[in-house]
Amino acid sequence: MLQGEEASFFVLCDGKTALPLGTAQDHKRVGEGDTGPNTGGMGAYSPAPVLSEAVQERAMERIVRPTLREMSRRGMPFQGVLYAGLMIENGEPRLIEYNVRFGDPEAQVLMMRLGGQVLDLIQAAAEGRLDEVSVAWADDHALTVVLAARGYPGRVETGVPIRGTEGLPRSSVQMLFHAGTALQDGTLVAAGGRVLNATARGTTLQEARDRAYALVDAIDAPGLFCRRDIGWRALGPVQDAPATSQPT
Ligand code: GLY
Repeated sequence: MLQGEEASFFVLCDGKTALPLGTAQDHKRVGEGDTGPNTGGMGAYSPAPVLSEAVQERAMERIVRPTLREMSRRGMPFQGVLYAGLMIENGEPRLIEYNVRFGDPEAQVLMMRLGGQVLDLIQAAAEGRLDEVSVAWADDHALTVVLAARGYPGRVETGVPIRGTEGLPRSSVQMLFHAGTALQDGTLVAAGGRVLNATARGTTLQEARDRAYALVDAIDAPGLFCRRDIGWRALGPVQDAPATSQPT
């Protein structure tokens, strides 16, 4: 069993060069304080403080680069997004798993922070030019809150109406990503387990969290619920009773 704190590390690869693309921390359990059943992810934030520059460099040196070298040696150079699920204990990263994709909902926070440059980076990876590019990082934070259909991760009711999304800001600071929605006779409805991602950036994680929950609070959808404590590992537990939480 691996002990420590779990975090996600994203690396873009072009078969020769590996470019760290960002870090994030997911919230897998359905309930506040990481309680209840596992889900695909109820919220995320980026960067993950536990993945400091030093820990990232250690992960590149001991885990990511050796993996890529061995894949090349076997004639299977890896080109794409490498998502390393790491457990970090006392500054030591250990690998739990690799995925070859962006995470959900980690992608939402990474995209908010990277903005349009991500297209150039992905194109450079596809064309084997990652050694010519670099990531322009802002000193910012992003946080996303998943709005899920009641019952998730078990059986959920679909078709429940979602109101209040029309006037919400769509900017590089606040964005509502649709995951499981549909239009039914012109009305926006839930069409899956994880339905919406209320996502925001800020100069601090607290500011990003306040802006993300402002989006959540503007949505009128009694059929949906969310966790009220996204970011708690970095910001501390949330005390007040959650209005949109599902009892676990
Ligand atoms: N959020 C976890 C995953 O995408 O696998």
